[in-house]
Amino acid sequence: MRLRLCRLDELDGDRLLTEHPDSGDPLLVLRDSDGVHVLDALCPHQYAPLLGGDFEDGILTCPMHQWRFDVKTGESPDMPVCLQRWPAEVEDGVIWLV
Ligand code: FES
Repeated sequence: MRLRLCRLDELDGDRLLTEHPDSGDPLLVLRDSDGVHVLDALCPHQYAPLLGGDFEDGILTCPMHQWRFDVKTGESPDMPVCLQRWPAEVEDGVIWLV
């Protein structure tokens, strides 16, 4: 079952902090030339908010200790950890979790 997450035009530039529609957990929506990526909004290291992290060339960098995460896989090239990704699709300007 798809869950409506937000509208594409709600993004502030390339990102939006929102919540999982069921759990209320914070989610980070990022947009780049590859599309839309939905990820946990807190770093798996020490739970720093990732909203303010640098996002460039598909890599999100945690602002706290600079661990990097590939937004397509959630994997980090720096540590054996993974940032939770949420499969999503965009239809008629609405981002859905699928
Ligand atoms: S809290 Fe993100 S790298 Fe440490």
